Amino acid sequence: MTQAPKKLFIKTYGCQMNVYDSERMAETLGASGYVTTETAEDADMVLLNTCHIREKAAEKVYSDLGRLRPLKEAKPGLKIGVAGCVAQAEGEEILNRMPLVDLVVGPQSYHRLPEMERAVGQGGRAVDTDFPEDDKFEALKSRPKAKRGPTAFLTVQEGCDKFCAFCVVPYTRGAEVSRPAERIVAEARELVEAGVREITLLGQNVNAWHGAEGGLAALVGQLAAIDGLERIRYTTSHPNDMDEALIAAHGQEAKLMPYLHLPVQSGSDRILKAMNRKHTADQYLRLIERIRAARPDILLTSDFIVGFPGETDADFEATMDLVRAVGYGSAFSFKYSPRPGTPAAERKVQVEASVMDARLQRLQALLGEQQRTAQETMVGRETTVLFEKPGRLPGQMVGKSEHLFAVHVQAPESLRGEIARVRITASGPNSLAGSLIG
Ligand code: SAH
Ligand code: SF4
Ligand code: F3S
Repeated sequence: MTQAPKKLFIKTYGCQMNVYDSERMAETLGASGYVTTETAEDADMVLLNTCHIREKAAEKVYSDLGRLRPLKEAKPGLKIGVAGCVAQAEGEEILNRMPLVDLVVGPQSYHRLPEMERAVGQGGRAVDTDFPEDDKFEALKSRPKAKRGPTAFLTVQEGCDKFCAFCVVPYTRGAEVSRPAERIVAEARELVEAGVREITLLGQNVNAWHGAEGGLAALVGQLAAIDGLERIRYTTSHPNDMDEALIAAHGQEAKLMPYLHLPVQSGSDRILKAMNRKHTADQYLRLIERIRAARPDILLTSDFIVGFPGETDADFEATMDLVRAVGYGSAFSFKYSPRPGTPAAERKVQVEASVMDARLQRLQALLGEQQRTAQETMVGRETTVLFEKPGRLPGQMVGKSEHLFAVHVQAPESLRGEIARVRITASGPNSLAGSLIG
């Protein structure tokens, strides 16, 4: 008699790298007999793949764990694990604070999940927050052949050596490591065989990838040679790692999409210096000019922090000026959140909450306006759309444009997973509408 599969529910917080890791964790636990499920209620194992970037994100994990208590009481065999960046930052502490947690696994050691799961099955608790010598990607199985959606993430670089003064990532993810090009190309081929048409290369500093001569631009070139792979994106980039070859690739490589997330965080040189970003506002603006010279229609996005310790009204106005000078397609903006162990958290000059709120509102209003403008300039233009799923209205499909806008189009469902030419006809609150051409 074959055993019924055990069910695994994974909740993912934080960045795309966690989304990718969650997929790989599910695949590796698949070898221990787990299939994924959509709800915690019918799971035999619940994994929270967590984010430590801001206090709110980290605290949410504890309230979600609290909500799992009745489930665990009703089903004592339920295994509960914490993975990701909170696991790395807090380790053993999580077991002390939350007796219902059975295992804690960091982002660089989750290839050991099957053994840890077995140990928990034998009544133990397990913690692994090593930065092991062995590469988890080499230990993980190759990707399953099963048919999948048309877009996929592919982690090519992990960790960060930049040590921005506000950021926990260098501590939770460890030092910068690049995966070798041949492994990445092999994984991309597996994804394409499974139906993927668009791959987003991921890294905390993806453009610092140095797995082969020529850096990320060379990797993009190798991937572009794969038949059936139609679109390539990458995120997140640091301004100081945008080299000439990568800028040039945006003008030369047709499969590289005209979209770039290039976080700047602040427009004030004083604050950029205190943040340890190692570039000025002017250097960033000149970099944007060079990128736009290579690819004039590129859509730029960014991240901003308001209320970094010591940020004055004048510093904040410099950020507003920089935003006006660039003209973004969209951007994320956050209130500064002091993180344990980071240099900025030690600074005496924290900005008052009400001041941060007011600045965030103004910045978001400006960025919202720019997003509307960016969307409206698309109206009347031709683009390609990669269709991903049916829309809410009958006969409608939704996909992403080259500039990563969601586009709603009247189109047959047979176009799912296909790329078609579309004329943009209207701009809505968070998406565009268009019609098929020819
Ligand atoms: N590696 C990327 C992004 C890392 S985290 C980069 O270098 O840009 C994503 C975003 O979270 C950052 O760009 C930053 O805007 C924000 N962030 C990071 N630490 C933060 C903190 N302590 N408080 C508020 N926002 C933060
Ligand atoms: Fe964090 Fe800075 Fe590294 Fe980005 S570059 S992950 S913001 S330390
Ligand atoms: Fe969060 Fe870790 Fe990503 S802290 S943003 S999940 S790298």
